[in-house]
Amino acid sequence: MNLSTVYANALHEQLHELFTLEDIVSLIERPKNKQHGDLAFPCFQLAKQYRQSPSDIAKQLSGAVKGTLIDQTEAIGPYVNVFFRKKEVSKKVLTKVMIEGNDYGSVKNDKGVVSIDFSSPNIAKPFSMGHLRSTVIGQSLALLAQKNGYQPVKINHLGDWGTQFGKLMCAYTKWGSKEEVKSNPIPALMKLYVMFHEKAAQNPSLNDEGRAWFKSLEDGEAEAVQLWKWFKGESLKEFQKVYDLLGVQFDRVQGESFYNDQMNEVVKELEESGLLTESDGAEVVEVGEDMPPCLIKKKDGTTLYATRDLAAAIYRKNTNHFHHALYIVGGEQELHFKQLFHVLKKMGFDWSSHLFHVPFGLILKDGKKMSTRKGQIILLEEVLQEAVQKAKSNMEVKNPHLDDIDHVAKQVGTGAVIFHDLKNERLNSVEFNLDQMLTFEGETGPYVQYTHARAQTILERSVVEVVSTFDGLNDEHSWEVIKLLSEFPKEVQRAYAAFEPSIIAKYTIRLAQSFNSYYGKVKILDHDDQVMNRLALTKSVTIVLKEGLRVLGVQAPPNM
Ligand code: ARG
Repeated sequence: MNLSTVYANALHEQLHELFTLEDIVSLIERPKNKQHGDLAFPCFQLAKQYRQSPSDIAKQLSGAVKGTLIDQTEAIGPYVNVFFRKKEVSKKVLTKVMIEGNDYGSVKNDKGVVSIDFSSPNIAKPFSMGHLRSTVIGQSLALLAQKNGYQPVKINHLGDWGTQFGKLMCAYTKWGSKEEVKSNPIPALMKLYVMFHEKAAQNPSLNDEGRAWFKSLEDGEAEAVQLWKWFKGESLKEFQKVYDLLGVQFDRVQGESFYNDQMNEVVKELEESGLLTESDGAEVVEVGEDMPPCLIKKKDGTTLYATRDLAAAIYRKNTNHFHHALYIVGGEQELHFKQLFHVLKKMGFDWSSHLFHVPFGLILKDGKKMSTRKGQIILLEEVLQEAVQKAKSNMEVKNPHLDDIDHVAKQVGTGAVIFHDLKNERLNSVEFNLDQMLTFEGETGPYVQYTHARAQTILERSVVEVVSTFDGLNDEHSWEVIKLLSEFPKEVQRAYAAFEPSIIAKYTIRLAQSFNSYYGKVKILDHDDQVMNRLALTKSVTIVLKEGLRVLGVQAPPNM
């Protein structure tokens, strides 16, 4: 139940000649002072129509607005403020959460497939901070899509093709060591790649050799293909460690190379529809005045990142029949996606308007971009392991007798990293500070997890069984929690509509804070006639916190 809608309906009965229900919903505000009411309706827009002052209209309207869940309305200046019947509302909200359980807030109708292209690291390179963001945002959007009635198809579009692999093979055959690559693949390959660039700066003919290697890869020559497969396999093993820690799975791991045999088709189609033009020996598609043309084929006949993305988009539409498709990729690729969508539109695919680039900001360390280039490698797996270690030492202090501390430390450590990333609006940059994200106080994942575990413990300590028959709470302290619980379904929808997991992360923080303040003021387990209501509230909080964390990709340990 959504209280804004309840109030809007009551107002609509009086105002249907002037406003639609949606108009009214969008006008409703939250009073700055909670004592002044639960929601407020401003009357400024009515002043013209009625030729009266907003406060006079507010007075008249407040007498007329009625509803079964409305206790009273009151004109405060130009606003009509509403007070709900706490007991009835809380009974309704708690009953709904208790009955629906994890399904509370889920949209039931089938809205079709969403293709979500996320994570997509580049093989033979470290899994970067940018790929971490893409991974956690993509994972959460897939979970949110599902909760909103869509069927997500999660795709890892690995960067596993391109001239850089020619360079790498060239470097490996000249200076590489099999043992080194085997024992420590990513740093070893990275070292070779860096070495190649240093040497090529002195000796540019190396670049030709690199290109020749890529050409033999594209031509399918055995040695090149074998090396490429090996590098890819080793890289995937490394990436898998990160995915395991984060609890991320994909429906399809289809890297750029997957589309190799679909390229000719795409180029042919562009040719036949007359979209391909020549520019400096390369083949391009013009995409309008305000963007450079989209490069389809290089001088030497090789295809590009964009060509492979064109093939991928068409393939996905034909195989998944998606309703819409998301690309969770950093803001620096904005132009690439604009060009891509534009070319698809020119090709006559009207579904191109259902493709969305979902960009995000940087991860910073002490205000500077955390970079994986220039040989200064940060291995993400090590960062995550460090988070788990730190979570473990924190817990050894807080709860030394905890069973299975390693398992919980993993949930808390990785949860802290994921939560920290997602609580920031996606386009903002995030400062990466492990100690800060791991504290139990403040707006962190561990804080929300801890609140959930605390509520869970109360339920375990209770001698009475929580049932779904209770008559509702009527006090101020519980009311804040009840109102927040009632908002979860709306927040789930808002978060997906804006592709913004931070809406849920912030919501879980608010809910945790309000429950903690309730817990501080009220004796939940006291044996009076309200105990069942308070337990139902506590149980509902555990359900919604756990589900909120779940759609962020964060686990909620029952004990910590
Ligand atoms: N591998 C690319 C990179 O690391 C990201 C790929 C994103 N997805 C796509 N369909 N272009 O920059």
